[in-house]
Amino acid sequence: MPILYNEQDQTITLHTNHSSYQMKIGPCGLLVHTYYGPTAGGDMSWCLSFRDRGFSGNPYDAKTLRGISADTLPMEYPCEGSGDFRPPAFSLRRANGAVGCDLRFRSVKILPGKYSLPGLPAVYTDEAGAQTLEVTLADEAAGIEAVLQYGVLPELDVITWSARITNRGAEPVVLQAAASGALDLVSGDWDLLHFYGRHAGERAAARTEIGQREILIGSRRGTSSHQQNPFVILARQDATELAGECLGMSLLYSGSFSCNLGRDQFGTTRAVMGVQSEHFDYPLAPGESFQAPELALAYSASGLAHLSHLFHRMISQHVCRGPWKNRRRPVLLNNWEATGMDFTGEQILSIAKTAAELGVEMLVLDDGWFGARNNDNAGLGDWTVNTEKLGCTMGELAQKIRDMGMKFGLWIEPEMVNEDSELFRRHPDWALRIPGKPPVMGRNQLVLDFSRSEVVDEIFRQITDVLDECSADYVKMDMNRSITDVCSAVSGYQSQGKLLYQYVLGVYRFMDRLLERYPELLLEGCSGGGGRFDAGMLYYCPQIWCSDNTDAIDRIRIQYGTSFGYPLRTMGAHVSAVPNGDTRRRTPFHTRAVVAMAGTFGYELDLNLISDEEKAQVPVQIETFKKHWNLLHNGLFYRLTDVMKNRQEAAWMTVAEDGSEALVNIVVLDATGNSPNRFIRCMGLTPGASYRDEASGRIYDANALMTLGLPMPTVPHPRWPVQVTPCEYDAFQIHLTITD
Ligand code: DGJ
Repeated sequence: MPILYNEQDQTITLHTNHSSYQMKIGPCGLLVHTYYGPTAGGDMSWCLSFRDRGFSGNPYDAKTLRGISADTLPMEYPCEGSGDFRPPAFSLRRANGAVGCDLRFRSVKILPGKYSLPGLPAVYTDEAGAQTLEVTLADEAAGIEAVLQYGVLPELDVITWSARITNRGAEPVVLQAAASGALDLVSGDWDLLHFYGRHAGERAAARTEIGQREILIGSRRGTSSHQQNPFVILARQDATELAGECLGMSLLYSGSFSCNLGRDQFGTTRAVMGVQSEHFDYPLAPGESFQAPELALAYSASGLAHLSHLFHRMISQHVCRGPWKNRRRPVLLNNWEATGMDFTGEQILSIAKTAAELGVEMLVLDDGWFGARNNDNAGLGDWTVNTEKLGCTMGELAQKIRDMGMKFGLWIEPEMVNEDSELFRRHPDWALRIPGKPPVMGRNQLVLDFSRSEVVDEIFRQITDVLDECSADYVKMDMNRSITDVCSAVSGYQSQGKLLYQYVLGVYRFMDRLLERYPELLLEGCSGGGGRFDAGMLYYCPQIWCSDNTDAIDRIRIQYGTSFGYPLRTMGAHVSAVPNGDTRRRTPFHTRAVVAMAGTFGYELDLNLISDEEKAQVPVQIETFKKHWNLLHNGLFYRLTDVMKNRQEAAWMTVAEDGSEALVNIVVLDATGNSPNRFIRCMGLTPGASYRDEASGRIYDANALMTLGLPMPTVPHPRWPVQVTPCEYDAFQIHLTITD
């Protein structure tokens, strides 16, 4: 059974197919954590140390047993006020202003199937063996109950956490922190891998020793952010792509979050993750509850590549939903980088015509089609079609595009309003603002109060009027600023600390309603590119625009970092024009396509403006993508080079789950004359098998490819009949198929 409650030992053990997790009801009812790692059993409380440590206090009921301390034991849901001075998962302010509470074990319940969370994203499964564990902790004196929820998905090798906090007392209380979960690892020197960045430079991979300190990463921006991603990895210091222990934590939440990590004075490493506790001051009246978002955990005993595979499978099959989850996504062309907001209907049709002729399958009309939106200072909030600009209605434009044989998609940014809009003039109180304080502006726009249902209703009505009219096949849902001035015109003083969380629930409700109304809709997430790229959004959008930076070389690093926690099929990636708008860099057309194929694949330029030679490549690229999409999107993904360190070449590959074929992708980052021989070591091939390079016919032994490596391809010299090393930014795709 995946969940075993041993009453005699007082242990609760969760088993997935290859990992085990254990907690124990310790002395004084403290719920302690004993184990997370490869399959193991029995009572593992032998790992606990009950030494009397100075300045580590003891529960009152421990009496003279001074070895019992919440400050030294590994705790399952550490609580401020229990004598644990490490980062807490839970903190409560009582009606009298005092902060502190002490949660102790009350009961345990095991339920069939995996729980779901109303109004919040959650991993789902119909796996027969999945189970839910609910462990109830309480502080009777404070009137607080915390139900720790665990989902155990044996085949997925995933464990999920959440927590539901209820005020069972007679007085109101305020939650100051209520994390989704905490993990205390009693042994080991762990590194943290986190994914940091900025707008147009998201999810750079960083690896740092956790060491003897506290590390706080997270977002205070109201969204999961470009700056830090709510996915982290703890890896043993010797862990590599193919070996060593590591575990990942992925928060299914799209708002401000935090992850506190550190190693304590006695060597236990703690990681606490959940909703950011700054700006979180969540009042609970008697009888009210707070539901923490879900956090998914996976453990790999065999390196980072396998850990990524676990998260890729979880996200693509058990987080993403809807008809598009396993379908090949249409190859789209988005007009944003071609025209910005300065377009006419005629221009869009001309772009669409060439795109259709070259094999593109969907035209997406980006920002600028509505209200007075001719630049980014006006119009947000007025979702009425600018028929003057289009020269026709949206229904007519969509029809013309469909007549060309393409699908039609539209951009929206529902959460925002410009002061220069009809909506704002009518409802200035719908924007988040602190009375009397000039608001902080972001892209000259304000954030609508999506915690209010009347606001969401009105925006939903306006936008769905347009989507109904044009029967949009696809919607790109954008969000282009961070949230400041966290103050709702309707929440009382006491409730402003709920706002950011309720806002996120409003966004989720909006997307749920869109998907209910248009069950066939393909929804793409976006927040100035990848500012809200998280597992929570992926519950609604099976793909997210990965970055506003479409430079192929920068994108390699962005997509590399993203790949640790998210599968290729979720990463919106397009071929754009050169010189690139962000970097001014020129890369070959082919290279841009190879990089975009490590994502959803599409175009972001006016194909009328490229050379005839490049035009001829477009149908070839589209055919290549169609030929390999199954391998690219369903194969096992391997990072062959560390692009944060290796400045010479970037390489990645996908391998069919049955090992029958593989696609190796190489981009030269730096070229030198008469260069030394270089080899790319493959991964994931079937040991002992042979593979044929489909282009050259050459046969390779898989073991040799995985040790010696694939020789870096050569190219013909421009003038002499010899082969030479490729040039900077050249790209290669090598399709290998297994021989009988
Ligand atoms: C930011 C997005 O990431 C871009 O792709 C584009 O849609 C613009 N917003 C439009 O304003």
